[in-house]
Amino acid sequence: MDITIMGIESSCDDTSIAILQNRKILANVTANQKIHAEYGGVVPELASRAHQQNIIPTVEAALKQANIKLENLSGIAFTSGPGLLGSLLVGTSFAKSLSLALNKPLIEVNHMRAHILAHLIEEDGQENPEFPFLCLTVSGGHTQIVQVNSPYSMDLLGSTIDDAAGEAFDKAGKIMGLAYPAGPEIDRRAQLGDPLKFEFAKPKMPDFQFSFSGLKTSILYFLQKQMKEDPGFIDRELDHLCASIQHSIVTILMDKLKLAAQKTGINRIAIAGGVSANSGLREALLKEESKGNWKVFIPSFQFTTDNGAMIAISGYYKYLQEDFSDLSIIASARKPLEA
Ligand code: KG4
Ligand code: ZN
Repeated sequence: MDITIMGIESSCDDTSIAILQNRKILANVTANQKIHAEYGGVVPELASRAHQQNIIPTVEAALKQANIKLENLSGIAFTSGPGLLGSLLVGTSFAKSLSLALNKPLIEVNHMRAHILAHLIEEDGQENPEFPFLCLTVSGGHTQIVQVNSPYSMDLLGSTIDDAAGEAFDKAGKIMGLAYPAGPEIDRRAQLGDPLKFEFAKPKMPDFQFSFSGLKTSILYFLQKQMKEDPGFIDRELDHLCASIQHSIVTILMDKLKLAAQKTGINRIAIAGGVSANSGLREALLKEESKGNWKVFIPSFQFTTDNGAMIAISGYYKYLQEDFSDLSIIASARKPLEA
């Protein structure tokens, strides 16, 4: 019998709805919120209001694209955290109402586990990693290295003690006057610049821990000094600055990943989250693969940023175990990877 799951993602500023059938995605529709660019970051109040506006049209579009009727769904999966509470509440309340109205199982999903489980989606031409594998999850809110033993068992090896990798891109971009989120623009410009032209302070962190706030300060002080002497510095050097900043962030991520692979003896390496779209990071990973050191798993672009598909595949694995939630389930802004 077919297992058909609706995945509902509303943890931050994207309303995304997917329909999955037996590990294959039939539709993955996302409504982005452009409004936040004006403010240089996500404004929680505006995000929850936009989710309210977007959720019904996005659900309708996904069902139409998948050619699935609500009564054909086997279960309703939704993000219960971590994320912005007001945003999470929109998806959570919607999922509960749908589950109640259709009398179908309700399945809560952890957003950070879901980023990783996106690697188990069945796609033409894409190989799924065998267990165990390591996953570097890098987004605007998180930076983690996780050992993935099965869809149901993950060990957090390390995470950031301050800013996330995506935040490091966005904050560096803000200092240089780039629009939010600056990650994609830094990536684009980095391809035109010299990654070794400028050097910034590298953190010394134990084991698998990350820290990016020192890098941000180092960039800020360097640019303040240069701009005092030469107000045209940023404009003239922007591509080289982007290339050098990207190189610094990618080096910090790769050094820890290499250490994790060495210590665990696991050479299947996956990446997840918005920053996994970064071409410098992808290049560095593929270089390790071409040296014969690693087998690398890079998700399709539509599954890197926040998306309903990753929630649907997570719901599918919980459905197999009949791991359902009741209507008393609540969303949580903070939620550890293990929960
Ligand atoms: O996973 P995501 O869509 O949202 C969450 O934070 O959960 O990640 C967004 C982050 C932003 O910080 C954005 O600047 C970064 O991912 N990002 C990139 C690239 N594309 C998105 N950073 C570097 N290079 C990119 N190509
Ligand atoms: Zn995310």
